[in-house]
Amino acid sequence: MSHEFSYTGAMPSATRLIAETLSGPTGISPDEIEKNLEIPPDETLGEYALPCFPFAKTTKKAPAAIAQEWARNFAPSGIVAGVKSAGPYLNLSVERGRFAEAVLSEINRQGERYGGSESGRGRTAIVEYASPNIAKTFAVHHIRSTVIGNALANLHAACGWKTIRINHLGDWGTQFGTLLVAYRKWGDETLLERPDAVRVLMDLYTRFNKEKKENPALENEARAAFSALEKGEPSAHTLWNAFRQASLKEFQTIFDRLGIRFDETKGESDCASRSNELIRWLQEKGLARESEGALIVDLSDFKMPPCLLRKADESSLYATRDLITARDRHEKYCFDRMLYVVGMPQELHFRQIFKVLELAGCGWVSNCLHVPFGHYQGMRTREGTFILLAEVLDEAAKRTEVKIRDALREGLVSLPEGEIPTAAEKVGVGAVVFNDLKTRRIKDVIFDWDDLLNFQGRTGPYVQYAHARISGILRKAPAPVRTDADASALVHNAEVRLLKNLADLPRQVERAVADAEPSYVATALLDLAKAFSQFYQECPVIQADAAVQAARLRLADATRLALKSGLTLLGIQAPDKM
Ligand code: ARG
Repeated sequence: MSHEFSYTGAMPSATRLIAETLSGPTGISPDEIEKNLEIPPDETLGEYALPCFPFAKTTKKAPAAIAQEWARNFAPSGIVAGVKSAGPYLNLSVERGRFAEAVLSEINRQGERYGGSESGRGRTAIVEYASPNIAKTFAVHHIRSTVIGNALANLHAACGWKTIRINHLGDWGTQFGTLLVAYRKWGDETLLERPDAVRVLMDLYTRFNKEKKENPALENEARAAFSALEKGEPSAHTLWNAFRQASLKEFQTIFDRLGIRFDETKGESDCASRSNELIRWLQEKGLARESEGALIVDLSDFKMPPCLLRKADESSLYATRDLITARDRHEKYCFDRMLYVVGMPQELHFRQIFKVLELAGCGWVSNCLHVPFGHYQGMRTREGTFILLAEVLDEAAKRTEVKIRDALREGLVSLPEGEIPTAAEKVGVGAVVFNDLKTRRIKDVIFDWDDLLNFQGRTGPYVQYAHARISGILRKAPAPVRTDADASALVHNAEVRLLKNLADLPRQVERAVADAEPSYVATALLDLAKAFSQFYQECPVIQADAAVQAARLRLADATRLALKSGLTLLGIQAPDKM
């Protein structure tokens, strides 16, 4: 599922320079070397390490023998000061001054876009995310999909991919028959004007399901209503459209708050009328067959239940609509990659869809990827299953405001009164988003207010605070930052550690794209923020003599740019003050 790494930036980055330097004596391509470079946990071993396992096959030698041979053949040159073998590893130390200059000049070249590359140039990626169901509140899995999908779309775009962001609404299906019946019985027009229209529509569902127990005939009524909707009956269609508009309005307030936008907001309804066309296509390929009145694609050869295309009552199905949509998108965008950011429970659904397309001869389906994720643990839920994301974000902002005011009293931050609410919104929302992105997406997210808002923890506010703190340092600095300051003064261990963390960001961005895993970037930012705080503790900036001060200010500014870029990629704001 990963695409090849390739670095085509205008000037070689620090790790690129290292890879190029090692390429000659080893005979391994710079791409291969750069991809495999690691940062050893023990700093005394050197700044970087090259594990030699991946080269055993081509060289037909044991990894330890390779490391020894390469170490023997290597004479210090350029950015690499020395190499030493240690078991199957080649450890290497950098020429610190050159390393610093290489890292900083790359950041100065890219500015707030640092971390991006051209590796996806010429390719198109579709990222489908959010995809809530209309007339229902934003569920927990939609929050995760929204946050992860947005980060993935940003990351692809930063690596040069032409990126199409799609919100695929759940706006079709038998549940709209239910809603039509419930609304006609118990609803009225004023309802859809209310700001909490979605909540009220949800209540109608609930009421329907309760009354159904007493009155089973309601079920048939709902089925008939959906059937009328599918046949395009005007009054059903008008009403359905009103539900859709009211829902979209409410979703939009959430997207605005998270800074999320889409290139396309369509949904299942868009292709509902073309089910027969799809079914005919699959029949011509000999794939669709009748089973108990329904139409299916048998997948028993692949150890999967059948893919349902049409129910006995002729109504279309979720799978049918996804098959149509996938083909539409391929025709329209001719994508090189399509990511479906959808929860784990739909894993089988996507395997079925992809298999059917494969059987139908759509080779491009190998570029389609289901990007699943885990659940939320500990989030306060309302009525058992659903929660309003808006409420979570409100609460996050409220709690952050309290924290900022506490910090203000303790003299830890300085912020004019008028700027507190805006900062609290940015930090509170950022905290919720970061909490979602900081662990591998497949794992569950632990939702704990104290943890996720902890300014000293592995949190969004911690990273944002590092960014704001550096901005403050630079504001108060005796001299402006000079991007031509001589970087060769940056040889302190804490400086080298910080530079290594800076150099690592572009690699983590590439990895995040390759594995559709934004947590790599979140982790890199946490490490970076921590490395800065160690540097700032150990290396005086303002007190240092002029040349060292200029170099350190340049380093601080580069860190600020990298933090800002990384947060932006994750969909999180980076306030200058907090
Ligand atoms: N609306 C669906 C849900 O809420 C998610 C849609 C996922 N995307 C897709 N192409 N099936 O569960």
